[in-house]
Amino acid sequence: MRTQVAIVGAGPAGLLLSHLLWLDGIDSVVLETRDRAYVERRVRAGVCEAPTVDLLREVGLADRLDREGLPHHGIFLRFDNENHRVPLTDLTGRTLTVYGQQEIVKDMIAARLAAGGDIRFSVSDVVLHDLTDEQPSVTFRDADGVSHEVRCDVIAGCDGFHGVSRGSVPEGTLHTYDHVYPFAWLGILAKAPPSNEELIYCHSSRGFALHSMRSPDLTRLYLQVDPDDVIADWPDARVWDELHQRFGFALHEGPVVDRLLAPMRSFVVEPMRYGRLFLAGDAAHIVPPTGAKGMNLAVADVRVLSRALAALLHSGRTDLVESYSDTCLRRVWRAEHFSYFMTTMLHRAPGADPFQQRLQLSQLRYTVSSTAAATSLAENYVGLPFA
Ligand code: FAD
Ligand code: DHB
Repeated sequence: MRTQVAIVGAGPAGLLLSHLLWLDGIDSVVLETRDRAYVERRVRAGVCEAPTVDLLREVGLADRLDREGLPHHGIFLRFDNENHRVPLTDLTGRTLTVYGQQEIVKDMIAARLAAGGDIRFSVSDVVLHDLTDEQPSVTFRDADGVSHEVRCDVIAGCDGFHGVSRGSVPEGTLHTYDHVYPFAWLGILAKAPPSNEELIYCHSSRGFALHSMRSPDLTRLYLQVDPDDVIADWPDARVWDELHQRFGFALHEGPVVDRLLAPMRSFVVEPMRYGRLFLAGDAAHIVPPTGAKGMNLAVADVRVLSRALAALLHSGRTDLVESYSDTCLRRVWRAEHFSYFMTTMLHRAPGADPFQQRLQLSQLRYTVSSTAAATSLAENYVGLPFA
């Protein structure tokens, strides 16, 4: 088969790219190893930056988000057993939206399929070929095990951190920046009303905890845990007990309907391109989730990529594909720094001495007492304007 853009991965990056290209009259095929139900149920991000929501509205993907998403105007930083509000909207004029990533994914899949888009779920043996030729290709097996080849002009590697795209680039071509943190996040989704109207990022002597939500009767909670822990180490009773000790107030409890364990790392490859392969989203960079930036960066990348590919494929213009990586990396490194800043300010590093804990508390107090410091956090958190 033949298409203009072969997109590897049906996460937020791949699906949005396919939609944006379609709006520009460009054909694509999306290849996804998981089945549709799996990608629609995978609970991950919850916080959508203002520029992300602006873009989703602009391109007709925000109807349900506007009906069901929860607008947020502030977050709390909790330390010394007290909540301190950062008034995001007062400081920036912008609003955040809490709307689950899997809902965005559902909306994007529905929109693509309604427009006749081609998404192949449950594929296997995805292999990228001839990346430096003008006509690269991707081979794969479909859900029935039948082999196919997609010939194309461009391949978009949107297959997340563990995908095949990044690894298809010859060794030594990409520069990698990697930092692994000595802790992980345990996340639960509980059938319980949120215990506070806004998110609470909690610093405590027992480690970090986060209170978030998905709806008036679904609470999302996270705990910093040891990176070697497994989910079985954390039966529900232990999770609730630890949450109560870290937050220091009574949380609404309810049945746990989803659990995840996420390692914490910062990772960037440069450049985000090799020949006719363009990497976007988690395939090119990872941030620790504390800044709520990963999905938002994936959206920002494919916005830049869709414009660059439209210029290339409609009029043979190469300047935007040439600058794709540099344009994206400026936003990526800002988000990397912000996510590192939030992570190191709020988590307890194993073996951290009292000096480091005092520095964290000093930074937290400064952030909530100085308008300049609070504004810096707020403008990064709600999302800096797109380039
Ligand atoms: P993915 O969502 O990983 O999608 C990649 C897709 O490619 C997957 O569907 C995968 O199955 C598929 N794939 C893999 N290999 C192949 C292959 N060989 N062939 C074909 N397909 C393949 N971000 C935020 O912005 N805000 C938040 O609040 C936030 N909270 C988070 C909380 C947690 C606990 C975690 C873990 C992450 C959070 N993130 C958040 C990050 C966010 O979830 C990711 O950054 C986002 O999913 C990246 O999207 P993507 O499309 O690049 O990659
Ligand atoms: C959520 C996830 C995050 O990583 C974060 O920083 C805030 C909220 C969430 O899942 O709701």
